[in-house]
Amino acid sequence: MSKFDKSEDRRYSRVTERLNTDSGEAWQVHEEAMLMQKNGEDVVVLSIGDPDFRTPEPIIDNAISHMRVGRTHYSPALGELNLRRAVADYETKTSTHPCLASEVSIYPGVTSAIFAVMSCLLNAGEEIVVADPTYVGYIPVLQALNVKVKTVMCLSENNFEPQLKDLVAAITSETRVVFLNTPGNPTGAIISRDTLKKLASYCRERNIWLVCDEVYSMFTYESPHVSLRTAADRLDNIVVIDGLSKSHAMSGWRVGWAVAPEELTEHLGRFSVMSTFGSPQFIQDAAAFALNNDEYYVREMRNKYQARRDLVCSRLEQIPTLKFLRPESGMFIMVDVTELFADDKEFAKKLLDAEKVSVLPGSAFGVSTSGHIRLSLVQPEEILIEGCNRLQRFIHSLS
Ligand SMILES: Cc1ncc(COP(=O)(O)O)c(C=O)c1O
Repeated sequence: MSKFDKSEDRRYSRVTERLNTDSGEAWQVHEEAMLMQKNGEDVVVLSIGDPDFRTPEPIIDNAISHMRVGRTHYSPALGELNLRRAVADYETKTSTHPCLASEVSIYPGVTSAIFAVMSCLLNAGEEIVVADPTYVGYIPVLQALNVKVKTVMCLSENNFEPQLKDLVAAITSETRVVFLNTPGNPTGAIISRDTLKKLASYCRERNIWLVCDEVYSMFTYESPHVSLRTAADRLDNIVVIDGLSKSHAMSGWRVGWAVAPEELTEHLGRFSVMSTFGSPQFIQDAAAFALNNDEYYVREMRNKYQARRDLVCSRLEQIPTLKFLRPESGMFIMVDVTELFADDKEFAKKLLDAEKVSVLPGSAFGVSTSGHIRLSLVQPEEILIEGCNRLQRFIHSLS
């Protein structure tokens, strides 16, 4: 008998152990809702973050035409020059600092960009500062790298925006990276230009990298997005990560990028050689086309999200036992349910059982948002209205 037949003799790396943590009750409601839907039940799913819009037709046509002419081979590890240039032009347009194609690296999605950047900046055991609440996808990346995560609490009275004094207080002599997300998932919090600017120079003086995930940059409603690259005076400790998953409804295409100093970009290229070995050519061609010709569709999708936000907020205003912050960006609304239930997971579970509406408990994202639920806006208006009707009925049934 081979040693491999006896499971106790099998050996897996420590990474598998660190990644094998129970994502817990937080996701149970979503998973149960998916199962109910699969079994034909009439579930209103407000627990996902994948845009419901179709990828705009001209982008699809562009990808197909590039496939037909043979753009189906390996591409350079750092990305095709046409896409790196399109990203650099976009970053130059949206920032006060010009951006060169040589500062841009391309990945199959933002998650992959984050993994590459963090792998090139952090050794196991080193310290990274992140905000709480945090996008759930960060934790597995940081667990895989076995780094020490320090969290900074973001309070609802500050619209969940991380405060400069709290970020500075969390930084120690061990800190190698501060990792931010603006506009933020789950709360839609926007970090002010002043905080970004001061933090960038504070970190620079201490040789600390400041990395910012800006994947919701194209979905701000009341005022334009302020990128870390715009706010910072100097860019030599700055990395901005962004992609097309949300802005262009292209989550399944897997397109992300990092904008970083050239020396780090060269390291990132070597990292990509041994990890992704580049992204498909026809996808990069279509992504470059998308970025160069996107004014109309991005504006249209943004207007729709804004209208959905206004609709859901106006319905929530009619339920006095719920408190919520009107998000200035993104695709989610955080609702404080503490007046009704001490435990957000219990609220989410009971709402699913009683009314077949799935939402995510805020505790899935961190301590700061426990006692909240996250409602997602990636559903057409009629489904959002039905979700609000059911939520209202559920809350009436409690009184
Ligand atoms: C803040 C944030 N970063 C990254 C991602 C993942 O992006 P991608 O699908 O491009 O990997 C998400 C997806 O929900 C997100 O909300």
